Amino acid sequence: MSKHFYITTPIYYVNARPHIGHTYTTIACDAIARRQRMLGVNTYFLTGTDEHGQKIERAAAAAGKTPQQLTDEVSSQFRALWDRMGITYDDFIRTTSDRHKRGVQALWRKIRDNGYIYKGHYTGQYCVFDELYVDAAGPGAPCPECGRPTETVQEENYFFKLSAFQQKLLDLYTGQPDFIRPDTRRNEVISFVKSGLRDLSISRSTFSWGIPVPDDPKHVIYVWMDALSNYITALGYGSGDTKLYDEFWPADVHMIGKEIVRFHCVYWPAFLMAAGLPLPKGIVAHGWLLFEESKMSKSRGNIVRSETILDVLGQDALRYFLLREIVFGQDGSFSFDALVQRYNAELANGLGNLASRTLTMITRYFHGEVPYPSAAAARHSADDAIARAAARAITDSNTLFDQYQFSRALESVWGLIAAVDKYIVENEPWSLGEKQDEQSRARLATVLYTSAEALRIVTALAHAAIPEATARIWSQLGLGDIKKFDLATLKWGQLQLGTRLGKVEPVFPRADKSAIERMQNMEEQGRPAAAVPASATQAQPKPAAASAPVAIQTVAAAASALPDGKISIDDFAKVEMRVGQVKVAEKVKDADKLLRLEVDLGTEVRQVVAGIAEAYAPETLIGRKVVIVANLAPRKLRGLESNGMIVAASAEGGRPVLATFAEDVPLGTRLK
Ligand code: MSP
Repeated sequence: MSKHFYITTPIYYVNARPHIGHTYTTIACDAIARRQRMLGVNTYFLTGTDEHGQKIERAAAAAGKTPQQLTDEVSSQFRALWDRMGITYDDFIRTTSDRHKRGVQALWRKIRDNGYIYKGHYTGQYCVFDELYVDAAGPGAPCPECGRPTETVQEENYFFKLSAFQQKLLDLYTGQPDFIRPDTRRNEVISFVKSGLRDLSISRSTFSWGIPVPDDPKHVIYVWMDALSNYITALGYGSGDTKLYDEFWPADVHMIGKEIVRFHCVYWPAFLMAAGLPLPKGIVAHGWLLFEESKMSKSRGNIVRSETILDVLGQDALRYFLLREIVFGQDGSFSFDALVQRYNAELANGLGNLASRTLTMITRYFHGEVPYPSAAAARHSADDAIARAAARAITDSNTLFDQYQFSRALESVWGLIAAVDKYIVENEPWSLGEKQDEQSRARLATVLYTSAEALRIVTALAHAAIPEATARIWSQLGLGDIKKFDLATLKWGQLQLGTRLGKVEPVFPRADKSAIERMQNMEEQGRPAAAVPASATQAQPKPAAASAPVAIQTVAAAASALPDGKISIDDFAKVEMRVGQVKVAEKVKDADKLLRLEVDLGTEVRQVVAGIAEAYAPETLIGRKVVIVANLAPRKLRGLESNGMIVAASAEGGRPVLATFAEDVPLGTRLK
């Protein structure tokens, strides 16, 4: 293997137990790492925990533990979760480990010896929550990142000459446009750096939970310098054994959440430049997972634990949902309803159903052996159309995956599933199977071969995202261990005729309504109290005041400043609009304008009362696909409960016209 690929997650703070926000980053990296390995690339995947700093020291004191006890406990919770989920990390670095400490001190010495560290005095504000220096703000000023009050720090410190790297960093961003992705983050970083960089305080002397500064142990190294170094200390930097470092550094991707862009895109490359080390090839920032409309985080007390979802629906359900639901780079919302909806519609009814009906029919009609597609006589253009759709899905999903557009990559694979479903329905293999004539048998063989081959391609393409179920389908297809398959060779027509299927078993049992309730109850019971005082939990990122020093203007803060009358994408995301189909429509007694509708949303049928009776005769609506606002609070109209709203264009004084679709779209699909 000649190609190398090194990918990292951020290392997670140990003041909070893991939640699905952390899982999101880890799953994205795991999917990328798995895909690289499937392509035959020599891949190294690093994760770990960030265990030093004032925040951890205080969290431990609040919990009545020593910092080491707390970090041991929470670090092992992270590791146990990743193990339970089968995350394929190659190394798990802890910043309290000796190998890490040694490496960080080596990096410090290197930067110092190159003349970029000097001693001075810092008087200014510090946000312990974000471990962020907030220069030139007054005592008690709010942190521009999280809004919590900052603390005044007056210390003798070591400083890093960040100001010396302003132009070099700008050259880096322009010379290597994909150093920061997506572009929105890149632009924010560029304007931040252009506005001027001050030297950065990189040591603290008023607490001790950190790595001692070499030759001056009264100081501990600033926790972000400590933490960022993990990406090289884990490879052996500073240890004398540089085999991994030589093989894998520089990293191909540091995957991070958008709130830590500045640390990774400004401080980290500047530290590396100062040490004369190669820079990572790219930093990719994703958005936040929101729950109940705000960022999921321990301090807001609105976290959802991965374990709940693993217990009820399994790891593939969680992985699929996070990768498919969230447009990578943007914020996305989590809800149990949406999770179960996608699980049922796309995993149970989609992939699961395609696998079970294709494999069951091959078992029933061809004794469990992949049949021979027939010669020209029984070939239809629809068969070739599926082969072409599969080729497109391979190209599209590969390209999109490489651009980290997981949602669209999966969408293209599921587009193939929908095409095969339609093909099966139109070709009715079950009817062909009842007939004994040669022509029908030949046609049946072609239809089932085509379906099975498409299923194989879907399975290979989806494996990195949903490894467990796809490994099972692969072996049910009689293909053995999917890990041994070389994804780079994937193309139509590789399914060997006569392949003997394995035991056919369902992979995604349908979830009933109680699944949502069960998960909600599990979360209610397990939800911890908010970890910071109520006043602080209310704090939202605030736009930096005009007078705030540019050096601390933040990416997140800048993003939340909206012009008058505009709403953010998060506000829009609060409205859950879904595709439904009218099953029942009838007039409401004694109400000229109202119709009572029963609308199928894929996972449930809703009663909706709509003021459209003057525009539509009830019988014209049956079977029609409509748009429903699905998360509207229920209300009663003429004694009937209405659960949602039907979307219509309502011109002033005119008749309402229902929103509809020119193309076919599955029930329950969300509009966004
Ligand atoms: N310890 C630092 C990172 C140091 S890396 C050298 C840190 N830790 S953290 O635990 O607070 O967050 C780490 C990462 O977890 C975030 O960057 C993000 O990738 C992920 N997430 C935590 N909460 C999240 C959401 N609610 N949504 C999406 N990702 C989230 O910052």
